[in-house]
Amino acid sequence: MIAPSILSADFARLADEVRAIDGADWVHVDVMDNHFVPNLTLGLPVVESLLKVTDIPLDCHLMITDPERWAPPYAEAGAHNVTFHAEATDDPVAVARDIRAAGAKAGLSVKPNTPIEPYLEILRNFDTLLVMSVEPGFGGQSFIAQVLDKARTVRRLVDAGELRLLVEIDGGINMNTIEQAAEAGVDCFVAGSAVYGTDDRAATVEILRKKAATAAS
Ligand code: DX5
Ligand code: ZN
Repeated sequence: MIAPSILSADFARLADEVRAIDGADWVHVDVMDNHFVPNLTLGLPVVESLLKVTDIPLDCHLMITDPERWAPPYAEAGAHNVTFHAEATDDPVAVARDIRAAGAKAGLSVKPNTPIEPYLEILRNFDTLLVMSVEPGFGGQSFIAQVLDKARTVRRLVDAGELRLLVEIDGGINMNTIEQAAEAGVDCFVAGSAVYGTDDRAATVEILRKKAATAAS
């Protein structure tokens, strides 16, 4: 699955920018609060407007503090996935429960230097694991390949039937890096600058999808 990140889109033309990725599996929406990360993007009102202009499921990635307070409204609004950061809360299971109760899939995200082992036990409460392959906050950074060990660990547990969730990767995914992520067992690939930095966004999505599928087979 390919989830283009609109962080690299033209924020004044978001409806057109989402139409330009027709054929994508999810639209990845990066919510930043200038607190959990040193950048500020968009919030619930923009997500509500996006929901009116696209049928592609919205994959909301909340890089914010206090997800217990702010995450459930994204689910209530109609986001498909609501992902928050493990580092941002003491009770990720409670946040996941509230997201699911509000009608969305729940995702847990971990920064590059956050180990996955302490969270393996609670992953059964989640629908996706979002492995960050750059420090959250900005598009266009270089892929950190070391994080793929986390994807491999969780992929093994999924394949063994011990967990049921999608493994998603975010940061630095492009034509040169997507194959190694696919080989590590990633299911869903976020790509911002690699998609919106090209003229034919839909064609780029297709090329990325084919590369991932070939590498995974
Ligand atoms: C970074 C965001 C990413 C960002 C990825 O904090 O979470 O979703 O858009 O951008 P690229 O694909 O350019 O690394
Ligand atoms: Zn993201």
